[in-house]
Amino acid sequence: MADAASARDVRDLNPNADLDNTNTVTVTLILKLRLAERRTCARRMLGQALEFVREPEAEAMKARGEITSDFAARIRIRASCDPTWWKLPLVIALLYLAATRNQLEEHNLYDTYLPGELPVKKCDGVNLAARTLDGTCNELKTPAMGSLGTRFGRYVPIDKSYGENETTNLYTPNPRTISQQLFKRETFTPAPSINLLAAAWIQFQVHDWFSHDPVNDPDNYLTFPLPANDPLRATGQNNMSIRRTVWESHPGRPNTFNNINTHWWDLSPVYGQDSATNAKVRSFIDGKLNVAGDGLLPVGPDGLDITGFNDNWWAGLSMMHNIWTKEHNYVCDMLKASNPMWNDQQLYDHARLITTALNAKIHTVEWTPALLQDKILLAAMNANWYGLAPEWLQDLVPDLHIFPALSEAWYGIVGGEPNFDGVAFSHSEEFVSVYRFHSLLRDSITIRNHSDGADTANTYDIHEYTFGNAQNVIHDNSFADVVYTFGVDNPGALILHNYPDALLSLNKPGVPYTLDMGAVDVLRDRERGVPRYNEFRRLFLLKPAKTMDDISDDAATVAALRSVYGEDVEAVDLMAGCLAESPRATGFAFSNTQFQVFILAASRRLLTDRFFTTDYTAAVYTQQGLDYIQNSDFRAVIGRNIPELNASVYTVDNAFKPWKV
Ligand code: HEM
Repeated sequence: MADAASARDVRDLNPNADLDNTNTVTVTLILKLRLAERRTCARRMLGQALEFVREPEAEAMKARGEITSDFAARIRIRASCDPTWWKLPLVIALLYLAATRNQLEEHNLYDTYLPGELPVKKCDGVNLAARTLDGTCNELKTPAMGSLGTRFGRYVPIDKSYGENETTNLYTPNPRTISQQLFKRETFTPAPSINLLAAAWIQFQVHDWFSHDPVNDPDNYLTFPLPANDPLRATGQNNMSIRRTVWESHPGRPNTFNNINTHWWDLSPVYGQDSATNAKVRSFIDGKLNVAGDGLLPVGPDGLDITGFNDNWWAGLSMMHNIWTKEHNYVCDMLKASNPMWNDQQLYDHARLITTALNAKIHTVEWTPALLQDKILLAAMNANWYGLAPEWLQDLVPDLHIFPALSEAWYGIVGGEPNFDGVAFSHSEEFVSVYRFHSLLRDSITIRNHSDGADTANTYDIHEYTFGNAQNVIHDNSFADVVYTFGVDNPGALILHNYPDALLSLNKPGVPYTLDMGAVDVLRDRERGVPRYNEFRRLFLLKPAKTMDDISDDAATVAALRSVYGEDVEAVDLMAGCLAESPRATGFAFSNTQFQVFILAASRRLLTDRFFTTDYTAAVYTQQGLDYIQNSDFRAVIGRNIPELNASVYTVDNAFKPWKV
């Protein structure tokens, strides 16, 4: 008999099919048809992507007057295909992903600046061979692009990005109900294929890419009543209030929001993005960053590590900042040995470029394939960085950049020509939304001894490992034991019912109320105009769910969704839908809906950055630097900076997979 996914395939093809009595022959036949359909989809989408195949179906639809534009035709074709691409043979799946990326680049990139609105910046006197602190002068024709404080863009059409408000559905269903009934963890469900380093890593990256600024002003709160049966009511609290996000309003257009970080992938959380912070983190000797006598980051009077960006601090972030500070200093030593005449600034600038590119490479070819453990994805991510062609062939046939899409796939994005697809680079609100990975966090962390894997007596719950308390975890244990613990333990799975309870009553210093992070995550999407799950799928050219049953194969998950949203499939929030969604691609830690955003963003943040494209050269980085990046992985970074871990980190082929005890 068919499994749940196949049963759905059958029902899609024949809504009247009696699944219990469907015999195996019929099911096999139908599934064969379905596979053929998927192959056809891949072929048709590839044709569209490369634009040398006419799309007869689209033409026919236009002739029948069913649709008026090519865009509409493409949406229809993609939505009707919506293949489970991960079941396709490798080459077809790669073509399908390439075609999907091409479509998304064509239809899902929207600038929130009208012509002339982006601030004008000049690059006179700027060292163009180094990254600037505030991210200006990366794209030289538009120096402010992607810089500190500029607006988030959108991956959905601007007219679809109006925020919900009090007169529409901003508080419906109640965000607190969603948090308590759908997100709250009863028992910890681990993500068995990855380790806790992967969780700390992605928040570290997220802080490199973006952060919003919530308004700290009592007149600007989002306030809604607590559900009738909410336990908080027993304490006399009747409402929940959350600060609004700082916004800009524009006549006749949706509000926009600014990124308080640089959009570029520049390791700004380590280096800072203004000269005062940068001066605090630098030693100004041999290009190095400051470390204290114990080799770890110094701690400031607020109890937080002194580093470039330390918001939402916890032991995992402290660990990552320490590792990458050590790595920067290691690179400085290497460069100084080969270039003894270089001054502090030359060493610092080169070390930053090399350390940043290595970090981006590790994210692309190691973190991502660990989260999305699938051979197709591994090949696709390697293609993004290295290219599909073997090195000897790339050397033999130089890239003439005649077909940009082909060049990117064959030679890799890095070191090639930049490509903006006609839209200025920025991160988007939709990108922020799909990285709300709070269920990765564990309720508590018990530090293990790196030499034998045994638990020590030191256990920290969320309250004890976050904000100012993070330093206790780092400083009361050996750093090797902390990193080892993160290497061995699993994070939580990205599914419903897996937000740590303590995160639903989080007290963050400086925030004048207790945060329910589940409610906040839902409300932020509604406030910032990120479409709900079904509309989001439509706008990303995926087939929308017709009923709750289409969202997940798991009956209990569907029942949970129904308990909050009833039959109103359009009301399902993006977060809830993504955490509930199944089937997922084989080995994927997150949903196919989130993956669409990922396909677009993963290549774009490399493709648009001068330092990963035209200036990824020996002249800018040094040949030694390029070789170092090429020959390093995260295991090497850990091993050379924390030599006690050399044995354990090499028990795995990818540092983000659980290390063997
Ligand atoms: C103990 C660790 C963590 C704490 C204390 C924490 C806390 C917070 C807080 C207070 C916010 C802002 C809430 C608001 O909008 O008012 C936030 C936002 C966010 N967090 Fe976390 N978080 C943690 C871990 C993580 C992890 C592991 C990820 C994984 C990627 C993550 C991803 C995000 C994202 C994407 C946002 C939205 C940022 C924005 O709106 O610009 N967080 N977090």
